[in-house]
Amino acid sequence: MALPPAFLDELRLRTPLPGLIGRKTRLTRSGRNWKGCCPFHGEKTPSFYVYDDHFHCFGCGAHGDAITFVMRAEGASFPEAVERLAGEAGLEVPKPTPEAAAREKRARDLHGVLEAAAAAFERRLRLPEGAEGLAYLKRRGLSDETIRKFGLGWSGGGRGAIAADLKADGITPEQLAEAGLIRPREEGEGYTDLFFNRVMFPIRDRRGRMISFGGRVLGDGVPKYVNGPETVLFKKRNSLYALDLAKEGAFRGGTVVAVEGYMDVIALHQAGFAGAVAPLGTALTPEQMEELWRLTPEPVLCFDGDAAGARAAARAAEAALPLLTTERSLRLATLPAGEDPDTLIVRGGPAAFQAVLDGARPLGEALFGLVAEGRPMATPEQRAALRKRLEEAAGAIKDRALAGEYRRALLDRFFDATRTGPRGAAR
Ligand code: UTP
Ligand code: MN
Repeated sequence: MALPPAFLDELRLRTPLPGLIGRKTRLTRSGRNWKGCCPFHGEKTPSFYVYDDHFHCFGCGAHGDAITFVMRAEGASFPEAVERLAGEAGLEVPKPTPEAAAREKRARDLHGVLEAAAAAFERRLRLPEGAEGLAYLKRRGLSDETIRKFGLGWSGGGRGAIAADLKADGITPEQLAEAGLIRPREEGEGYTDLFFNRVMFPIRDRRGRMISFGGRVLGDGVPKYVNGPETVLFKKRNSLYALDLAKEGAFRGGTVVAVEGYMDVIALHQAGFAGAVAPLGTALTPEQMEELWRLTPEPVLCFDGDAAGARAAARAAEAALPLLTTERSLRLATLPAGEDPDTLIVRGGPAAFQAVLDGARPLGEALFGLVAEGRPMATPEQRAALRKRLEEAAGAIKDRALAGEYRRALLDRFFDATRTGPRGAAR
């Protein structure tokens, strides 16, 4: 049975593992995770751990996700396990049609096409034509190891370079167009390259599969970055740069932190901040926040230290409010004015960014300032308007108990601020 990977992802997402596994063996909290006695081999002291998206027994090596668990615990086949979990999650198992099977094969092939392209770009970076690109990356402080780890490459000069590279692998121009690397000419025959004379940044999904590229000009040309177009594999609003690496980083205890750009993420990983990710040229979407929460209950969002950064933080907080629960929150960190994480680390080393992380404030604490920023509180009308905004912010939280707590905290701050500073601006 060939089921669409997106359906299986959704099914896993909607099946909290502790609930499922807790029916077979008693689980107790162990930090962020759960542990208990392994249901697959007799043991008296717990060595069976349940994480967000998988279980692992350090005794017998049993390992897997929700589907594997049902297969092993109930002796179910793969289709049976999927059917059962889908029923509980309220999902309909898609009927395997020939069209769906063909679509899936194309998608699988497309990951392979992008993988081959990434390898070709990497090769080009080490040819004479890529020398300038490689020198640029080194000048920006990236080590050989980092350049390899992120699979950075050189696009070539365009004019069909990538199509020529991949022809030997049996990859057609149609496939390259579907992968978002070239596009048909508007007039006349043939295709034009989307990336040329650029340093290439492979973009992967949370499972490490290739989905697109970003490309940067050397120096000051515009546009500075070009990102691949939306394709069947690449949905910008769902994707985060370096999510696959950050998932590992978070697992090893790294702080999950969202920053703005490609180079910021790479500089952070090189400096040891293995939980860094970035959206792809837009403000963080609710879908991307969901991805962050799959890694950690309280990711840090990092913003520029200027007025635009403060506005971006306010917008992100606003977008997050309806999604908050007692288990999912945010912290907000602010960079020194005029720095991004990359420049900060180049100048001040890892310690400079660690200080930014250490200064991150829980959303519950930062929210008053974000809402009140720039709002006068001198007159009763102004105070009533601000109070209304604060109540609306708390009201946007869907979790009732949490909304109540936020409302109380915001109003406490409001009364403090209006008592001590009747004419003062927001603090
Ligand atoms: P920035 O302009 O802040 O660039 O864009 P940066 O990351 O600091 O890049 P460097 O340090 O100059 O190399 C932040 C992010 O916005 C997106 C990219 O994802 C970039 O990393 N962006 C920027 C674009 O998509 N297109 C652009 O033309 C510029
Ligand atoms: Mn930068």
